Amino acid sequence: MAKSKEKQYIYIVQSSKEMTRCKIGKTNNLERRLKEYNNMTGKSKDTLYTYLFACEVKDMSEMENDLKKMFITLREETSKEMYFYNSALFKDYIKYVKLHPLFVKEVIAKAENKNQIVKIVKKTTPTLEERGVTRKELLQKAQKVNNDEFYTRYEDVEKELSKYNKSVWKNKTVFCNCDDPVDDDERRTSAFPLYFIKNFHEFGLKKLICTHYSGGLDLFNQKAKGYIFTKDGFKEFREYPEGYTGSFDHPLSLKILKEDADIVCTNPPFSRAIEYWKMIIESGKKFLIISAQTNPITKAFISYFKDNQVWAGYNRVDWFLTPKKEITSNPCFWYTNIKIKNRPRFKHLKIMPLKEIPEKYKRYDDSKILLVDNCYIPNDYKKPFAISNHPIFSGILEKGYKIIDKDWSYIAFVNGKQCFRRVLVQKI
Ligand SMILES: C[S@@+](CC[C@H](N)C(=O)[O-])C[C@H]1O[C@@H](n2cnc3c(N)ncnc32)[C@H](O)[C@@H]1O
Repeated sequence: MAKSKEKQYIYIVQSSKEMTRCKIGKTNNLERRLKEYNNMTGKSKDTLYTYLFACEVKDMSEMENDLKKMFITLREETSKEMYFYNSALFKDYIKYVKLHPLFVKEVIAKAENKNQIVKIVKKTTPTLEERGVTRKELLQKAQKVNNDEFYTRYEDVEKELSKYNKSVWKNKTVFCNCDDPVDDDERRTSAFPLYFIKNFHEFGLKKLICTHYSGGLDLFNQKAKGYIFTKDGFKEFREYPEGYTGSFDHPLSLKILKEDADIVCTNPPFSRAIEYWKMIIESGKKFLIISAQTNPITKAFISYFKDNQVWAGYNRVDWFLTPKKEITSNPCFWYTNIKIKNRPRFKHLKIMPLKEIPEKYKRYDDSKILLVDNCYIPNDYKKPFAISNHPIFSGILEKGYKIIDKDWSYIAFVNGKQCFRRVLVQKI
């Protein structure tokens, strides 16, 4: 008889002596793995390893690789599976694992120890918990209180932009219009221009125009004056027009947008996202920008997704740099109106008859609207149903479903309890 397939697990383990670190690994045998760790440390009781979390997964190696990629900056050494640990990071690891399409079920979850002393991890800002805010509140605050000072990491720009066919850039003028300064020192240059300068000839770009905004915190140490940097073939020059602030809506920036730019590429300020999206979409230009992950389920942006004026790019972006170049998290995604061929995220969509969707991922709210989760999508359900932003990132609107014609987020109540925001879609 054929041997039944072994179960596969992803686990997070921690030594009682190393509270600022944890190990994230894979195993077929949770019991044996823990025993091995504890044997390694000898008989000493004060270096006891315990599981913080473990779950069954469909493919432990693939999940482990995704975790490595996702949390690359939180690994102590790239050769080891040790990750920085504090309670907010721990929540991020678990959230990522549970939302991953290969997740099957949780098997161990350590109850939170309220008395546990958790140190601030090396090279990170205080956690959201330590600052007494949730991610949601931080994002809302960012939208209201001009908290725009998040800097894009070079690797995130490279990871997304390298996915597009090189012909997209050929003979094009790229415009980076939200504080994307260029300096002789790479550390004072925004990741966007840096990437385009490095690939200027390879992409066959016609021109690169970047503006520095004078009104912010001056994160790139470029002094208060707004300026325009242009790279035109081998010629590079900087202009400081009288009274120019570098704001994306300054008449001079708008003139460049209208007359020169072919593709706009940047990470605009979170506090001005609504105006920025309106401007860029009305301009009719191609764009590739970073914005909040909540946009597809936020009233101000839903109609753009519904009308096919914007769609998700390839990647999410979760980590940014603060003015002090420390890593900080903020859940964002790439958005674009450049065609995405064979969207890799299609594979996350689980489109099937309603009755085949597992019970725990489908339910009806108090208004009898069907709610589906975990990228499950019914293909035999004629009425509108509510989804989160994840199926939108995975291209559900390119698979014969449409957002129904109301530009509002859907807030479901189940037994009177409010659920997170969604959007209503329907099979076409
Ligand atoms: C999220 S940060 C991104 C900075 C840079 N583009 C990057 O990707 O690293 C947004 C930047 O936009 C700047 N900003 C704020 N208001 C602006 C405006 N009206 N026009 C242009 N930039 C603005 C902020 O000061 C901040 O530097």
